[in-house]
Amino acid sequence: MGNRIRIGALISGGGTNLQAIIDSCESGKVDGKIVFVGTDNPDAKGLARASKHNIPTFVVDYSSIIRQYGKDPGAISLPGDFEMQDILSRISLFPSGADSKKKEKFVVTRAIAEALLIEKMKPYPFDLLVLAGFMRNFTPYFIDRINTDPDNPRIMNIHPALLPAFPGTDGYGDTFRYGSKTGGCTVHFIDYGEDSGPIIGQKAFQIEPDDTIDSIKKKGLALEWELYPECIRLFAQKCLKTIKMTYTLDDGKEVNRTVVKIMNGEQ
Ligand code: GAR
Repeated sequence: MGNRIRIGALISGGGTNLQAIIDSCESGKVDGKIVFVGTDNPDAKGLARASKHNIPTFVVDYSSIIRQYGKDPGAISLPGDFEMQDILSRISLFPSGADSKKKEKFVVTRAIAEALLIEKMKPYPFDLLVLAGFMRNFTPYFIDRINTDPDNPRIMNIHPALLPAFPGTDGYGDTFRYGSKTGGCTVHFIDYGEDSGPIIGQKAFQIEPDDTIDSIKKKGLALEWELYPECIRLFAQKCLKTIKMTYTLDDGKEVNRTVVKIMNGEQ
């Protein structure tokens, strides 16, 4: 074993991906150790999986923060280092023309929750933060405080679709309802948009005529449990390098993208 990485995990639900990561760490497939499991949902079933493996857990109840803020915006104080304009200038989660009051409410409530998350994470230093079915989008307030080195992102997410198709909260459902013939899952680093960050790995499955939403979820999850540990192993082995690329399109326009290159072994 080399340098065992410390992994923080955030979940919202059942935690089957969390379980796959725990198992991969315990079997040595991933040279890592989960140092905490946090959630936005006090009822997340995955918390019991963490406790069973003696992993510390914590809750930041997003729904209750959003409710409280709705009732009395003055009752919860904003983080001291929060700057609305700075966050609004970088966030990329809203469609153009979105209502500015709604945007501000979103950013304020999420930053309050994110500051609490950061506080709860403080006792557990980590190298990588994995979102394993965490159903909240982060604002730049949180992302920039975790990604302190802009060249080395360290928040990973797993998404239940072949991105960039079908971002959002119901990847398998959207894939199925569209009539796609191939579905899949994607692991990517988080950026300021929704499921738009640099792709690390993908796995695909065929959608057959007799498949249902439930059967494709089953096929997809089985692949997620393989893909996520594989991507975390690549991170632990320092095989992931993010590179800024500029591509020129046929019409002469330039497109800038950050992409992940998978390198051979420790760099
Ligand atoms: C997984 O399918 C994961 O890809 C998805 O939630 C499920 C969580 O299952 N994540 C998202 O949709 C994130 N936007 P799990 O709790 O059993 O790991």
